[in-house]
Amino acid sequence: MLTNDQLDRWDRENFFHPSTHLAQHARGESPTRIIKTANGVYIEDRDGNRMLDAFAGLYCVNVGYGRPEIAEAIAEQAKELAYYHAYVGHGTEASITLAQMVMERAPAGMSKVYFGLSGSDANETNIKLIWYYNNIRGLPEKKKIISRWRGYHGSGVMTGSLTGLAAFHNKFDLPRAPIVHTEAPYYFRRPEGINSEAEFTAHCVAELEALIEREGADTIAAFIGEPVLGTGGIVPPPAGYWEAIQKVLQKHDILLVADEVVTGFGRLGTMFGSDHYGIKPDLITIAKGLTSAYAPLSGSIVGDKMWKVLEQGTDENGPIGHGWTYSAHPIGAAAGIANLKLIDSLGLVGNAGKTGAYLNAAMKDALGDHPNVGDVRGEGMLCAVEFVHDRDGRKFFDADEKVGAKLAAALLAEGVIARAMPQGDILGFAPPLCLSQAEADMVVDATAKAVKATLG
Ligand SMILES: Cc1ncc(COP(=O)(O)O)c(C=O)c1O
Repeated sequence: MLTNDQLDRWDRENFFHPSTHLAQHARGESPTRIIKTANGVYIEDRDGNRMLDAFAGLYCVNVGYGRPEIAEAIAEQAKELAYYHAYVGHGTEASITLAQMVMERAPAGMSKVYFGLSGSDANETNIKLIWYYNNIRGLPEKKKIISRWRGYHGSGVMTGSLTGLAAFHNKFDLPRAPIVHTEAPYYFRRPEGINSEAEFTAHCVAELEALIEREGADTIAAFIGEPVLGTGGIVPPPAGYWEAIQKVLQKHDILLVADEVVTGFGRLGTMFGSDHYGIKPDLITIAKGLTSAYAPLSGSIVGDKMWKVLEQGTDENGPIGHGWTYSAHPIGAAAGIANLKLIDSLGLVGNAGKTGAYLNAAMKDALGDHPNVGDVRGEGMLCAVEFVHDRDGRKFFDADEKVGAKLAAALLAEGVIARAMPQGDILGFAPPLCLSQAEADMVVDATAKAVKATLG
């Protein structure tokens, strides 16, 4: 058997890790974490440390780890038919069945699902479909896409441009035209002088209208947003936000993409975040919760209005020039079917709402009065605690102090994994949807201990 030292050496010599300080890692200044096994909400590394994974991997292992139903479905599919493509009308029992299951669960007004591999490639698909749609409608100038600062939509060239986080742009020559960004719906970081959520929603709407005026509505094709901001800080929208934003978009013939990579399939306590907030999207991005990450699979769900134009486009121009070799991969589809069945049979959408509300309330009780806690917020099985130097003046810590990272490390020492969110001292929690109340208590107790150890 390979030793940990051997793996550690190979890792530093050969492995280019995503979102990692490459130089420090190669020099051995940051730890290599080799995960060995996992079950339920726990993962275990090769040193024998058992940790409660309160971020479900990257908020994706929604049914929890070690589910034999999904593992067996994957194995059966690999034996029966490991691969066949989906081009030119080809399908498999798994991919066709999963498409049916996704569309049964999708919000009203949606027509078809295109399957990809990752959230990033699904959003690349969305951008192409938006451009195609307006070309077929004879509106070749209407191509810009509005995203929000702090939105996260992937890290490809165009999807990295949609993402509104500096670390994904700097030195990569992003964002590329034609992506433009508007105000993040982030009440805690609102400008001075705004004192209610309603006022802040009005401010976000005014910012959006000013942007549309500046750019020209006839140049803007679409608006993309996560129902709840995820990587940008786990931030539910201010009251009335989605209703007000949709009114503006409708007025200017601007499509709406709901990026439900995190919120899709139950995380907010409803099947989709769009159901939760009354969003009526033209496109929905899905990934993570579609298979609970047991196999890579994503999708773009296309609404009726766009679908009609896509059909018209292929009547006029021939087959759509878009596809990946692994679109609708049968192994991913088999994992997706077993995963969606488990979400239903275990009642995980309901549990996300119920236990998520419990987790959020308990976190607020435990930490809401701490002098360095500025905000405890969440929705469904998403929760965030934002730390500040001075809560009265909303004064943030200096980024160099790395308070968020230190808190995440202290929490790990307590046996719980949370995520130090980028761009702020924010601990993010997005546990598997099967979290129990007792496990929620463990997360909260460990967080309180880690805060005490780090900030007093
Ligand atoms: C809302 C959202 N969209 C898109 C993505 C990109 O997904 P992937 O990392 O699978 O490319 C993510 C990833 O975290 C996400 O949170």
